[in-house]
Amino acid sequence: MSVDIQQQMAQLTKELKEHNYRYYVLAEPSISDQEFDLKLKQLEHWEQQYPMFADPHSPTQQVGGGLLDEFKTVPHKRRMLSLGNTYSEEELLEFNERVCKSLGVDSVEYVCELKIDGLAISLFYENGKLVQAVTRGDGFQGDDVTENVRTIRSVTPVLQGNFPAEFEIRGEIFMHRKGFERLNEQRAAQGEALYANPRNVASGSLKIKDPQEVAKRPLDITLYHFLSDSNPFATHSASLDAAHGWGLKTPNNSKLCKNIQEVFDFLKHWDEARKGLGYDTDGVVIKVNNLQYQQELGFTAKVPRWAIAYKFQTETACTELLGITYQVGRTGAITPVAELDPVSLLGTTVKRASLHNANEIDRLGVGIGDWVFVEKGGEIIPKIVGVDFSRRKPGISQVEYIQECPECGTPLVRQEGEAQHYCPNSEACAPQVIGKIEHFVARKAMDIQSIGSEMAEALYRNNLVNRIPDLYDLQLDQILAMDRMGQKSAQNIIEGIAASKTQSFERVLFGLGIRYVGETVAKKLAAALGNIQNIMNASMEELTAIDEIGDRIAESLIQHFQSEQNRSDIDRLLAAGLIMKAAEKLSLGDSLKGKILVISGVFAKHDRDEIKAIIEAHGGKVGAGVTGKTDFLVAGDGIGPSKLEKAQKLNIPIIGEDDLLQMIEI
Ligand code: IVH
Repeated sequence: MSVDIQQQMAQLTKELKEHNYRYYVLAEPSISDQEFDLKLKQLEHWEQQYPMFADPHSPTQQVGGGLLDEFKTVPHKRRMLSLGNTYSEEELLEFNERVCKSLGVDSVEYVCELKIDGLAISLFYENGKLVQAVTRGDGFQGDDVTENVRTIRSVTPVLQGNFPAEFEIRGEIFMHRKGFERLNEQRAAQGEALYANPRNVASGSLKIKDPQEVAKRPLDITLYHFLSDSNPFATHSASLDAAHGWGLKTPNNSKLCKNIQEVFDFLKHWDEARKGLGYDTDGVVIKVNNLQYQQELGFTAKVPRWAIAYKFQTETACTELLGITYQVGRTGAITPVAELDPVSLLGTTVKRASLHNANEIDRLGVGIGDWVFVEKGGEIIPKIVGVDFSRRKPGISQVEYIQECPECGTPLVRQEGEAQHYCPNSEACAPQVIGKIEHFVARKAMDIQSIGSEMAEALYRNNLVNRIPDLYDLQLDQILAMDRMGQKSAQNIIEGIAASKTQSFERVLFGLGIRYVGETVAKKLAAALGNIQNIMNASMEELTAIDEIGDRIAESLIQHFQSEQNRSDIDRLLAAGLIMKAAEKLSLGDSLKGKILVISGVFAKHDRDEIKAIIEAHGGKVGAGVTGKTDFLVAGDGIGPSKLEKAQKLNIPIIGEDDLLQMIEI
């Protein structure tokens, strides 16, 4: 039977790799996303049951390994240069003239590639395997972000075909607008401040120290520069065509242009067509195609002479600031929004723009009635980039930020070091209370689909639900008494609420809407502490000892459960019959019974949570630090040096992932 499973697993692994390649590299998927996810789940399930048959390069492994302590700074093998830019067609003609003159030719072939707005990355492949990914940094040295980059699904971990034994390929990591919007929706749902643009998120994502968190960010890559000591190619386009053949994701919309005239045609086309792309481009990179010519042209001190970036004009409009409204989020965070005299920008009418926070208003020095410059540089959220002070009418002065909540009048607070103001009246400020109900019933929390945003608000306005547990006291006739409420809808609401009582503890915990307790944190808390009483009574030390729970989350939890009201909410939810403890852990044997193991580093086959689950399923316990009581230190790549030293000093056996798997005989 295991031979069977082994074969099936290998077959499914192969199939998923092909689907990944079709989806991310060829952009020609042959199955739906749901089908893919189902298949991936199946493989994940098998790999958990039969880790000895798991392929270390399985598509499931692109979801991230363990935590990273620090990013190592590493020198670039070849300096990572930037490009000269221009916004003008004349300068582009001059560039072409310089190129032709230096080479002594009448015209040259160029490759045009869209300049995607992301962050530059350098990948190293050895014997067809991705071995290192480094950010640009200062051009001489960058951060080693290999583990994070491995989680990007369009980054090919293992190549196919006839590739050189060693090479470097550079490109851009970026995020599609859809993914960016989804991420911001999630942030809004968690009451957190929104990201300004996809570029910032892409670059921020690579600096997250938890590859599993990075894996959740929908990042993409495009690889546009092949480099190797013995370059076998005659042209840039041939090198990228070959790279594409090895399974690497190269630019989709590039074009080989016979001369500068064809380059201008490309620019004209994409200045308009880029608006229909799902990601931001801020220009076109124009490269001399012949690599011999590239070498002859060489570099200035800063940039290559064989390439230039033509930047599209960003569109700016000037309009009047009619007023500022202040939105209050679920956690009480205040966001100022500029209300503008409607103005047309890149084909859409802009009426509102985010002003982010009080600091931004101070920076701009803007007043109501001012003429402001609004810009949309390919980004979806328009921003106010400045004030036309020459048009300021007498009597206008800088906006004074509100001191009180626009919804409930409570004085606002701003914590030290935070840009955002908050309304502290979380118990009775309408948008906060409604937001909390909405969050509790949301799909990822209790999933009560019969209550949407409007219904959550109606329940609050009718004084039926002021706090989350009130939901479980609702009676059919109370709901029926609401305006425009039918029997069927009311029945659905009651049934939906009743059904939610079987939702897992993790979902309940996430649904409570405690600041900074998102889905992942809720899972970690439930797994580490087991039930709500332990979480409510945990000290700062106990909380921060949990993997990934830092001071900020721990403080927020302690503060939340200091409130009598919040504690009594829990009593009421318990009385209503909600699940307030984690599901029983799986038991697979007792080969580690009574043993305490400490885990450190990143592992090849399993992530840290899985290693922990494996140990616990075999009767062992996982300790936070190496002490005299530790039986084994399970060491992965990049293990913390202090743990290693301590284990050696105390003569504690240091074992690897495979040793552990052998110990439990799977
Ligand atoms: S070639 C020496 N090609 O734009 C050649 N760069 O403003 C260096 N970029 O640092 C880069 N798309 O981060 C090249 N198709 C493309 C590009 C591209 C985006 C970025 C890259 C570079 C920056 C220069």
